[in-house]
Amino acid sequence: MAQNHPVIYYGTSTFGSSHVPALQDKTNVSKFLEVLQEGGISQIDTAARYPPDNHGASERMLGQVKASSKGFTINTKVLFAGQSSAGTLSKEAVRKSVENSLKTLGVDKLGILYAHTADPVTPLEEQAAALNEQYQKGFCEKIGISNFPLDTLKSFVEICEKEGYVKPSVYQGQYNLICRGPEMDLIPFLRKHNMTFNAYSPLGGGFLTGKLTLGTAEGTRLRSAYGAHFARWYDKPEFHDAVRKLLEAIEPLGIKPSEAALRWLAYHSVLGEDDGIILGATKVEQLRQNIEDIGKGPLPREIVQVIDKIGETIDALGGGDFEVRPTELPPR
Ligand SMILES: NC(=O)c1ccc[n+]([C@@H]2O[C@H](COP(=O)([O-])OP(=O)(O)OC[C@H]3O[C@@H](n4cnc5c(N)ncnc54)[C@H](OP(=O)(O)O)[C@@H]3O)[C@@H](O)[C@H]2O)c1
Repeated sequence: MAQNHPVIYYGTSTFGSSHVPALQDKTNVSKFLEVLQEGGISQIDTAARYPPDNHGASERMLGQVKASSKGFTINTKVLFAGQSSAGTLSKEAVRKSVENSLKTLGVDKLGILYAHTADPVTPLEEQAAALNEQYQKGFCEKIGISNFPLDTLKSFVEICEKEGYVKPSVYQGQYNLICRGPEMDLIPFLRKHNMTFNAYSPLGGGFLTGKLTLGTAEGTRLRSAYGAHFARWYDKPEFHDAVRKLLEAIEPLGIKPSEAALRWLAYHSVLGEDDGIILGATKVEQLRQNIEDIGKGPLPREIVQVIDKIGETIDALGGGDFEVRPTELPPR
């Protein structure tokens, strides 16, 4: 019997990237959409920033292949370009970004419109008003927030309540079997405010496939400028130890590390059916594999126990440092 799991999204942050030449090709991009349709996935996650080395190319690709008229819901994020998010959530910047996204994607309405990351300069009142304006104009079904520190999110929600603005109903953040920080304070806050959580980087940008630990990462994203920030976050002895422990447990059962990470997130993490998992894949075969793996259902109990232990060990070490700092992201 098929098991329920969070909503599956496919993230297109690599569409149009110079680091993944195949994804600059419309025919290849169309193949990804076909695999998604075969897998019953209709939600796409993009951003005006994507890919980081060629802002806007992901939305352009999605527009050119007519993803929306093929039945996909497109969820995007307000542009923050370069290394600074200062001023990106002003009323004017949000208007411009949304207008451009709608035109580029060839849609009248987005699924979720996210603030991509905190804007340290624009008053929070203006940011909340800016997103509310786009919602009231009917340009999106939902407002989402991504990467805001919890305190900023709390203030943002308070402003929405006080001013009668639409409240964000989705938060997008990094979450996987190593990056467990959101479970502590963020997700409990979201639950109180009827907000769902969409988990990005379910494989830690590829780290949870084991390739960095096993020394086979050459030529992959983790060794490119595009994935350097993931390598910086994850390339630490305690995280390699965690991957080794996982490999030791799953190998005898013929389970791949990426499969274990995705099945854990889908069936054993704190995510529920209304939350989301945003898959990443730069090859059609990876995407097909990931969808098939999630379809296999819950993991054997002994593997869940190993992953729980990994979580406890990382918590005891103070967790990882997974904060998105705009200045540390790949340069344009
Ligand atoms: N809001 C934000 O700030 C934010 C930040 C990050 C991501 N996101 C969203 O989340 C999406 C997914 O994030 P992510 O790309 O970091 O996800 P991820 O699943 O953690 O990493 C994807 C990478 O893992 C490798 N991979 C995936 N499936 C594999 C498989 N079956 N076998 C071997 N390797 C596999 C690929 O690396 P190689 O390419 O090296 O083969 C792929 O590029 C993004 O596209 C974006 O939409 C949002």
